[in-house]
Amino acid sequence: GDSLYKAMRQRGRNFLGTALTLRNETAEYKIIKQDFNSITPENAQKWESTEPSRGNFTFADADRHVAFAKQNGLQIHCHNLVWHSQLPTWVSEGGFDNATLIQVMEDHIKALAGRYKGACTRWDVVNEALNEDGTYRESVWYTTIGEAYLPIAFKLAAKYDTHAKLFYNDYNLEYNNVKTAGAQRIVKLIKSYGVRIDGVGYQAHLSSEITPTSPGPAPNQTVLEQAFHATADEGVDVAYTEIDIRMNTPATPEKLEVQKQTYERVAAACLAVKRCVGMTVWGISDKYSWIPGVFPGEGAANIWDENYNKKPAYKGFLRGIVGW
Ligand code: G3I
Repeated sequence: GDSLYKAMRQRGRNFLGTALTLRNETAEYKIIKQDFNSITPENAQKWESTEPSRGNFTFADADRHVAFAKQNGLQIHCHNLVWHSQLPTWVSEGGFDNATLIQVMEDHIKALAGRYKGACTRWDVVNEALNEDGTYRESVWYTTIGEAYLPIAFKLAAKYDTHAKLFYNDYNLEYNNVKTAGAQRIVKLIKSYGVRIDGVGYQAHLSSEITPTSPGPAPNQTVLEQAFHATADEGVDVAYTEIDIRMNTPATPEKLEVQKQTYERVAAACLAVKRCVGMTVWGISDKYSWIPGVFPGEGAANIWDENYNKKPAYKGFLRGIVGW
């Protein structure tokens, strides 16, 4: 039968992944086996899950996800090391000075990147550092350390995991606007420090129509490709790392058709750009999507419906991968 990741491999690309939260859903495991060769732990490796208080590391949940991937021969897109969100208050409100916060960062990166060395195919080293206008977000990292926190984080990740590809990851980069230019600046900044950055992750939390919380429907294919080139042409890989394409709910056959076409052109944009190494969707079934809880009245964003039936989006996505 059809397989998304096999189609992707046939086109010479590296991975087709899904976000994963391990739960008792055998339907999910079947789909993963058939359609995916990579997982991104949805929450298990985040700071609040892995270092809830200073120096107290809790790896049980992250370990389970890594073991699952290894048992099933899957790549792991590890997520993430330095972020402002899901960051325990002992870090965000700890009042650390510059040197101490860098030490806190090193201890965390050493523990995570060190523990999963050899298991992580890629690491999201820094996540969501940018505001919508392309300036730096006023996180504890930026306000304490300044923009140097980015190269410092990448340098530390490279120190403790010499193997994984190191990514900067953010959302709303797909529109090729000032935020995309911000990501390009980040790539240049990190390289200007003589530090390795291997890729930029374009999350692709998109929508297929105008919704209250989206910047508009997903861009046309030309814009999607140009947005990739803004960073890829700096000499890094690019990928879609968290694809979902939401709508105003409830879904109708007409809306699902538009969503199908949107999935198709998103996939086609990746395949049209040489340095697009792979794509990850942010979950399998609409049943567990993060969207309705955070954006009430929006959702139906994934490729499988709440009962694990393939939506029209599946064929659209596959067609975008295979090409005409
Ligand atoms: O596990 C607790 C549970 O014990 C508690 O009872 C419940 C009540 O609130 O919360 C549960 O934790 C939730 C967690 O998901 C696990 O379900 C958190 O509240 C909730 O905030 C968290 O949401 C996650 C979100 O990141 C947090 O920022 C989503 O699952 C996850 O899909 C989402 O993923 C992010 C990426 O990491 C970064 N890019 C954007 C993307 C979508 O927001």
